[in-house]
Amino acid sequence: MADTTPVIEIRNLHKAYGSLEVLRGVDVTARRGDVVSLIGSSGSGKSTLLRCCNLLEDSQQGEILFKGEPVRWKGEGHARRPADAKQVLRMRTNLSMVFQQFNLWAHMTILQNVMEAPLTVLGRPRAEVEEAARGYLAKVGIGDKCDAYPAQLSGGQQQRAAIARGLCMEPEALLFDEPTSALDPELEQEVVKVIKSLAEEGRTMIIVTHDMKMAHDVSDHVVFLHKGLIEEEGPPATLFGAPKSERLQGFLKSTTHA
Ligand SMILES: Nc1ncnc2c1ncn2[C@@H]1O[C@H](COP(=O)(O)OP(=O)(O)OP(=O)(O)O)[C@@H](O)[C@H]1O
Ligand SMILES: [Mg+2]
Repeated sequence: MADTTPVIEIRNLHKAYGSLEVLRGVDVTARRGDVVSLIGSSGSGKSTLLRCCNLLEDSQQGEILFKGEPVRWKGEGHARRPADAKQVLRMRTNLSMVFQQFNLWAHMTILQNVMEAPLTVLGRPRAEVEEAARGYLAKVGIGDKCDAYPAQLSGGQQQRAAIARGLCMEPEALLFDEPTSALDPELEQEVVKVIKSLAEEGRTMIIVTHDMKMAHDVSDHVVFLHKGLIEEEGPPATLFGAPKSERLQGFLKSTTHA
């Protein structure tokens, strides 16, 4: 029987920075092979939600489950923290995050960048990691850049290297925060292509993006966040084709005219 336990499940998540309530009770579920896109205006809480999901940020209320296993907490409200450092590490290494600014190490070659975490965090054998790293770099179309340094690559190539780095951890899911928004339109398409191919091979992904075409084309489910709440969600054809809420209608209008 297929395992239907969601890879990521977020229930009623609340997050505030001091008195600023950024997430006010958000639920998001990603089952195996799901691509979920998070869209919404600047400041609506998209990055915060992604960072809470990866436990890079604390949250004050609600649950985060990874493959059915709830994060264990200690303390309450603003004092709430994950209780089990090993659990946090295990979850984080299973959720690779790709950022807008690729965050590659400038002093390491592309191959070294991709190999770094599997070697040091997972302690996997070097020969095996190198073979995998070369494979992933080839997969994202920059197999010839192994010995180059990040500064010698275009933005699109650097972002593809960052995706290869994420893949080399063999994660259960990938989390993308605006992976294409630092790129020129031309280079953006190289990255969109890679993300599409990952979607087609059934990777579980949560993608924060302002690229509505990509969200439309790759997602199984789209979530529109507004001021820390889900205003509307659904399959892309419905959400983009027949948005119900006026806020979403307005948002989509503003993005197509941008
Ligand atoms: N470290 C922080 N300290 C205080 N406030 C923060 C912090 N990070 C984010 N915020 C605030 O939380 C709100 C949500 O921010 P977030 O980065 O999640 O928005 P976003 O939807 O990702 O926006 P964008 O589209 O501009 O990236 C904003 O009002 C922001 O100013
Ligand atoms: Mg953001």
